[in-house]
Amino acid sequence: MECTLQLFLDDRWIDSAQVEFRDGRCQWDFEVMYAVEHTHDPLSLVEPVDTEFRFGRALPAFLYDLVPQGAGRRFLLGELKLQDGPDADFPLLCAGAFNPIGRIRVAEAVAYFESHVRRHPGARGLPGMSIDDVVERSADFKERMYLHGMLGTGTTGVQGAAPKYLLTRDRNGLLHGDAVLPDAQAAQHLIAKLPRGNTAADLKVLHNEAAYMRVAAEIGIRTYGQLPSLHGDVLLIPRFDRRVRDGRVERLHQESVASLLGLSGFDQRPDLFEVVAAIRRVATDPHAETLEFIKRDVLNLAMRNTDNHARNTAMQLIDGRQQLTPLFDFAPMYLDPELVPRTLRWYRPDATRIELTEWGDVLAALPVGADERLRLGEALGRFATQVERLPDIMLAQGVDHDIVQFLTPAIDTQVRQLKA
Ligand SMILES: Nc1ncnc2c1ncn2[C@@H]1O[C@H](COP(=O)(O)OP(=O)(O)O)[C@@H](O)[C@H]1O
Ligand SMILES: [Mg+2]
Repeated sequence: MECTLQLFLDDRWIDSAQVEFRDGRCQWDFEVMYAVEHTHDPLSLVEPVDTEFRFGRALPAFLYDLVPQGAGRRFLLGELKLQDGPDADFPLLCAGAFNPIGRIRVAEAVAYFESHVRRHPGARGLPGMSIDDVVERSADFKERMYLHGMLGTGTTGVQGAAPKYLLTRDRNGLLHGDAVLPDAQAAQHLIAKLPRGNTAADLKVLHNEAAYMRVAAEIGIRTYGQLPSLHGDVLLIPRFDRRVRDGRVERLHQESVASLLGLSGFDQRPDLFEVVAAIRRVATDPHAETLEFIKRDVLNLAMRNTDNHARNTAMQLIDGRQQLTPLFDFAPMYLDPELVPRTLRWYRPDATRIELTEWGDVLAALPVGADERLRLGEALGRFATQVERLPDIMLAQGVDHDIVQFLTPAIDTQVRQLKA
């Protein structure tokens, strides 16, 4: 099986690489013309554009950012009549990655999507929807989502466990399935995220996600200017991998730290020192991004966002800078009925591999120069006075009272450590 990867540049999709996967062997390379003309437009920040052939037993790590997951994956498995498992990843990519997050897509998936639309002539020219239509999710809405891109039970272009729809708002404020609205009519791009499951706890996690994001913004974490908003049980999240300017849509490179670390598949768990090292290797300003990442982890611990896996942190390329994206997927995940334990941790980078749980120890073990270590320590000390205000900030931003109460000891621990 083979596929062609396309990258979005200057208003158009350009063929950029060829991937072949056969009998457990993968081979890929950049198109020659692409390699010549686009040396500065990589598919991955850790794969320089050149004319080399690459070989491996798995798909290149960056492609796993595009493999359908969650509800979109289950839907496509049914359509393709495939058993789930790692062998399904490549066929799922070739059918489902027609419109992913970021600026890469798979040409074969676009053809698959177009044939789906052709088989459903009723899909053409449908009017847009209001947010109330999305919240109600009537039979009519589900039918529309199905026609608008096989999104009936979720969506194939966005990862994560919670069901989601990628939606685009047109200039009249109406919402459409993202893949069907031409760029020229797009005003804003959104992810509509639903609760992961049907329990009260699932709903509580989602209800608090918008408030959690406001707290992060208030305390100085890099957040996207347009914050998520809650409508019934739908969290509407403005996308930061797209920018609309003068009637044109710009798609930004976005890549998970799992990809930066070359991790193929979905179950690998790097330790947090490896994550920091990966971020520093590609960041325009390694010091700023290290500090930003550690602050986010302070909040993960203080506010018990336990789901800190390597695809919940990503880098973006924006205005020539390589940096962490604004924060996403930040919620009281300790409440999740699946009991998500803290996924990634700080393991001492020596033979002992002991888990470090004091910021002083983490700082001491970071592979940075003495001067930078000092600057990080000072900045985290200053951050302590903000973290101290967390309970008040959380209440003011609408986090549930019982969550704030439950988190107080965790917050105190962070403040004590940061001050030390
Ligand atoms: N505001 C956003 N802009 C662009 N991409 C986003 C945004 N929020 C999330 N994503 C992307 O969508 C994926 C799924 O969203 P996430 O909130 O992590 O869902 P889940 O809770 O199901 O894991 C993320 O891994 C990330 O790649
Ligand atoms: Mg996620």
